[in-house]
Amino acid sequence: MKKRYTLEQKRWDDPAEHTMPEHSRVPASFTIGNVKIAPATVLAPMAGVTDTVFRRFIKNASQFTSATDDAVDRASNVDSVTSNQQSGCGLIMTEFTSADGLSRMRETKRKRYLTYYDDEHPISAQLFGSNPATLADSARIVEDAGFDLVDLNLGCPAKRVVACNGGSGLLRDLPLIETIFRAVRAAVTIPFTVKFRMGWNDDHIVCVPLARLAEDCGLNAVALHARTREDGYTGQARWEYIAAVKDAVRIPVIGNGDIRTPEDAAAMVDATRCDAVMIGRAAPSNPWIFRQIAQYTAAKEATGIGTYDIPTDQVRYRMIRTYFQMLVDEIALEEAAEATRAAALTEAGQIAARARHRDAVGKMKQFASWFTHGIPNGSALRKAIFEAKSGPAVLDSVEVFFTNQSTRAVREFEEDGELLATTAYCD
Ligand SMILES: Cc1cc2nc3c(=O)[nH]c(=O)nc-3n(C[C@H](O)[C@H](O)[C@H](O)COP(=O)(O)O)c2cc1C
Repeated sequence: MKKRYTLEQKRWDDPAEHTMPEHSRVPASFTIGNVKIAPATVLAPMAGVTDTVFRRFIKNASQFTSATDDAVDRASNVDSVTSNQQSGCGLIMTEFTSADGLSRMRETKRKRYLTYYDDEHPISAQLFGSNPATLADSARIVEDAGFDLVDLNLGCPAKRVVACNGGSGLLRDLPLIETIFRAVRAAVTIPFTVKFRMGWNDDHIVCVPLARLAEDCGLNAVALHARTREDGYTGQARWEYIAAVKDAVRIPVIGNGDIRTPEDAAAMVDATRCDAVMIGRAAPSNPWIFRQIAQYTAAKEATGIGTYDIPTDQVRYRMIRTYFQMLVDEIALEEAAEATRAAALTEAGQIAARARHRDAVGKMKQFASWFTHGIPNGSALRKAIFEAKSGPAVLDSVEVFFTNQSTRAVREFEEDGELLATTAYCD
């Protein structure tokens, strides 16, 4: 069976707690080549996670103002400081795509892999592979598809990727990396970046020479997940290596690894002086993380004290429903597009449609376990979602749970006369 790159396997072992350093904050913006990114925060590429639905969901969750979101409305000081910004998430990236696959695919299939919407700009497409010519071809495809940036993955530790010398497998071959850098650089005019781990293992740490090589070959920025391939996701990310890379190059450095809170983001900037922060695993469990970072930064600038909103359970439920509805809508859109291409779905088309439905329901189940983490009765909601067999059935179970939960809270409020906590359910 194909092993998936799952979020569940990648929880934090023993997260370090950081407090907000007094003076540091995440920069308001930075530029990669000619692309301005504001604020200096990046949603990390995550296979099986950062598809177009999730990316737009995160961008929306990162907006500062929303008529329906009372938690955000209270952050009025943020709006005045950042009124020229659209979202607390400055840059989004696709999940990694195989350059070999992309260059072989038919046009229609390619489009599905490289789907994005106008409101996703600026957006970067990430490629993996080890053949310089194929990577250069695929980078051209990415550029032609309208992406703002193209990124090369030199960090993926998955065995099936490393076995083809892709992802972190390449970290053992700097000369081949140089050939790839030069081939891709010559193939496109959009900014070209690389995301890598520190090296294969502690005996073979290459992040500093690799960053210098990237700069020499004309790449426009580097992003470091501060672990080796052998570390997998264990232990703490070693931010001191991000600092070492920052010291070594003049192109922007994006720091990545173990940011879970606005305090962590500021602490990473403080410890490394990186130009931007990249956030992966925190986003699916806390889709508000980018907005919280922006709130924290703006509040700190305005008042000297960093504060940010914690979403109520009510807001969390609404968020679950929104994301699930977006997944269901996306499938409906794809099917409508297919129906206009062919009068009736071919047998292959029907099989593909069933696979998409299964995939969407799988995503709902996967995300249910993240979004509902730590909320009252979350296990009951997870159970209901795991038992549902289709997208609409999942939506129904969220709706029923949500209604029961609100009713229960109002009843408790009436019975106990307790105002505490229940106000969250009464809007
Ligand atoms: C489920 C999952 C899928 C991932 N897929 C990719 C990927 O496609 N490309 C990539 O460069 N990194 C990938 N990563 C690594 C993340 O981009 C990021 O470097 C890593 O999770 C560390 O950041 P964090 O501590 O903020 O999660 C993935 C991580 C997870 C958890």
